[in-house]
Amino acid sequence: MPDGKLFGQPAIRIDGRAKVTGRARYPSDEVVANPAWAFLVTSAIARGRIRGFDLQEARAVPGLLDILTHDNVGGEAEKPQPMSGGSTTPTLESDQICHDGQIIGIVVAESFEAAREAAHKVRVDYEVQQASASFDSPGAEEEVREAGEHKDYQVGDAEAAFAAAEVTIDARYGTPTQHHNAIELFTTTCEWRDGKLTVYEPSQFVYGLRGSLAKQLRMEPGDIHVVSRFVGGAFGSKGGITARTAWIAIAARRLNRPVKLVPTRDQGFTIATYRAETRHHIQLGATPDGKLTSFRHEGWEVTSRPSQYNVSGTETTARIYACPNILTKVNLVHADRNTPGFMRAPPDTPYMFPLESAMDELAAALNMDPIELRRINDTQTDPATGKPYSSRCLMRCYDEGAARFGWQRRDARPGTMRDGEWLVGWGCATAAYPANIGPAAARVTLSPEGRARVQIAAHDIGTGAYTVVAITAADRLGLELGQVVVEMGDTDLPAAGLAAGSSHTAGISHAVAKACEGIRARLAEAAVLSNDGPMAGLDPASLVLSAGMLRGPAGQSEEIQKALGRAASGVLEVYAENLPKGVPPDAMGKIYQGQMAMSRGHGREDAITYAFGAQFVEVRVHARTREVRVPRAVGAFASGTIVNPLTAHSQYMGGMIWGIGAALHEATEIDPREARYVNDNIAEYLIPVNSDVRSIEVIMVPEEDSQVNPLGIKGIGEVGIVGMNAAIANAVWHATGRRVRELPIRMEHLL
Ligand code: MOS
Repeated sequence: MPDGKLFGQPAIRIDGRAKVTGRARYPSDEVVANPAWAFLVTSAIARGRIRGFDLQEARAVPGLLDILTHDNVGGEAEKPQPMSGGSTTPTLESDQICHDGQIIGIVVAESFEAAREAAHKVRVDYEVQQASASFDSPGAEEEVREAGEHKDYQVGDAEAAFAAAEVTIDARYGTPTQHHNAIELFTTTCEWRDGKLTVYEPSQFVYGLRGSLAKQLRMEPGDIHVVSRFVGGAFGSKGGITARTAWIAIAARRLNRPVKLVPTRDQGFTIATYRAETRHHIQLGATPDGKLTSFRHEGWEVTSRPSQYNVSGTETTARIYACPNILTKVNLVHADRNTPGFMRAPPDTPYMFPLESAMDELAAALNMDPIELRRINDTQTDPATGKPYSSRCLMRCYDEGAARFGWQRRDARPGTMRDGEWLVGWGCATAAYPANIGPAAARVTLSPEGRARVQIAAHDIGTGAYTVVAITAADRLGLELGQVVVEMGDTDLPAAGLAAGSSHTAGISHAVAKACEGIRARLAEAAVLSNDGPMAGLDPASLVLSAGMLRGPAGQSEEIQKALGRAASGVLEVYAENLPKGVPPDAMGKIYQGQMAMSRGHGREDAITYAFGAQFVEVRVHARTREVRVPRAVGAFASGTIVNPLTAHSQYMGGMIWGIGAALHEATEIDPREARYVNDNIAEYLIPVNSDVRSIEVIMVPEEDSQVNPLGIKGIGEVGIVGMNAAIANAVWHATGRRVRELPIRMEHLL
């Protein structure tokens, strides 16, 4: 555990003032000289090919500069490589149309308005084929995989155990398409100078963007500079490269002028990724006293025709409860859709919903309290692999959450806790998310004024990463928070990995701490080797930095500025790389090349590392209208060391609020005839507003885990959403006796 005083203390965001005063430069705010404006032309059909364009009217728009299509630039870029491997749909490389809203042209003009007008005047002659929208659409191809072929688990004989079980649950569940809808749009600005390219684009991985773009444009990564100082929400949607970037770079090269793209919100639904709809078949077998004897989980996920992208959340569901017989399997369904991708707790959010609903159904079948059922099946050993958990405080989360929520006052019989016209329901569910960590590098510079500068190509996607970096450096260097300046989001800085998978805080704080330790060691060495200082002759390892001083074990001390003067004639600069346990030795080099490298919570040899939580929800369902309200929710989480409880609270709370939306509001509606998203705007894509969100309580259960990583950090960005879908569905069942197994839960399901 860290011993510093700033670690674990609530701190307001160091970038907060810049954000609320408009000084924070988001990528599309970056100033470039005399930019031209791009507007995307997107496909109006979901499947077929382009016979030809009629560009006459578009070319006549005053201010028009250029129109890019497969006819004139198709060979200039490769398709982007999805981070998940496999392939994705084309854009301007060919005349093929693989989904609605596919980029098929880019219009560039002197103004945004002129580009938009000309784009609307591009006429396209399509050869149309019947498209398949999703599950059950004629022409959708189901790719059935064998258990074990993929990331699946097979332990014991689940089939036989299920057949022999005295109590069973056998049910099917579904989750819808969802889009991230970050406030910031998918902007890109490209500028060329002397054959070198600068890209301003919101990103969760600037080195990844650089590396992928270099491949697409057949350039050296070092000739591309990516800048993303601030990101206005990402949630996974800005993790991998999209097709737009290369074409904007090509547009800028053709014009020899910077080009800026700000796509529309509806275009964001099809030019980037989304959360795919999923289906699940769960079979649980148990003894009459509640011990699980069989667990089967089969999932189906929608993806594009060429992609193999899947989230396979059975990697999480197979290891939540002790069970001797496990069988999991994930299948893909290929349709005429854009390729899906990461979205907050990508595997766990859709896959824990069926498991935690089924556990609630099992508790009801056993006439047992749902928390008791979890307790009976709690484990410190992963049943899927036999490895120990590095730490697992699930039941402590349940105990603390239940106490705060008042769970003992729950009448177990559904439909009994009525308050006037409202049916009251209480539900709970488990949240779990792997503790991941990536390699990272950082440079720390100490100035003669005793101030520090930390440089790291990390990403603050709204999470508070700037502040986490400052806290770590100030804590380690014995400085005030205000004495630390942080630079991030730029490929000119030391590399950090993908800000995703709840891994970033763990990855970057270790790198920053290591560079700070380098500073301390250099100051200490100079101090003990000097002839005249108070620390002369001491063991350098015994010296610490605190409260602006270098201090010895017997109270010797010297101002940090003085100590610096002994070690360096000007500034003192230390670069450090941190390679966490579980990543290959070349992982840091991979990050610099823009490839993902991460130690995953279920990938280590010695232990399984996961954060856990217990989530409690009260719903009120109106007896006549059946509208569902969520007056309160309590989440108790154990995620190891919390670096900044203030922003951690916001992360957990944000996850829980999003969970209310996911369970009750959110779904991207698809026209099955045209394979087209129909509510592609924030007016019709429903998310919770303030009046949908009442009391949200977050409990941070203390947890020390020196095995997960030296600082004990597990990550918190995603676990807060994971249990909410099931907790709400379970509460709705408790209120009404109706078990809704398809999200979102709507009035019509409860009539
Ligand atoms: Mo997050 S969905 O891991 O970017």
